[in-house]
Amino acid sequence: MREGWAHIHPLPGGPPVEAGISQEEADYLQEMARGKRVLEVGSAFGGSTIAMALHAAEVVAIDPHQAIPESLPTLLANLRVFGVEDRVRVVAGSSHDQLPLLIQAGERFDLVYIDGDHAAAAVLQDAKEAPYLANLLIFHDYGSEPEVAPILDQLFPAAIFGRELHGYLLTIRL
Ligand SMILES: C[S@@+](CC[C@H](N)C(=O)[O-])C[C@H]1O[C@@H](n2cnc3c(N)ncnc32)[C@H](O)[C@@H]1O
Repeated sequence: MREGWAHIHPLPGGPPVEAGISQEEADYLQEMARGKRVLEVGSAFGGSTIAMALHAAEVVAIDPHQAIPESLPTLLANLRVFGVEDRVRVVAGSSHDQLPLLIQAGERFDLVYIDGDHAAAAVLQDAKEAPYLANLLIFHDYGSEPEVAPILDQLFPAAIFGRELHGYLLTIRL
């Protein structure tokens, strides 16, 4: 296993996948994605992608696949292992290019899941654009990456928006 990555089991008793989320977070995402058309920002090796794709209608998975060695070929191999390659559209690109294109094309999703670049400017851009694509948003690393929570608290204050925290996953209902 690569340093800094945990193993999750997207299927109980099934093979493991390296992931940046916990098993409990993967289980929560899987339930939230059930039957939905999902847009994911940040796939890496596919832990969250596969957890969601096993029950989702479709997952569009955006990741530039430049920061983590072997993330794209490993993701593609993992999708095949779990038999979800037909339900996942892999987009090798940055959310900063791809979200505006999806918005311009009038695309809508049932759920946008964001676990990409955690620097303040990037989180701000993703969080401002995501509401044009779905009314249900989930952000990872609320409370674990220091720049994520202040931006989400400012854009989506608890007094106005429905919010739930599961591990480091913040769900926002618009
Ligand atoms: C923490 S990992 C994602 C972990 C994954 N969700 C999982 O469950 O294992 C973050 C990923 O975000 C990707 N990333 C970084 N900046 C991005 C951006 N602007 N748009 C899309 N993905 C980005 C990185 O390449 C990396 O693969």
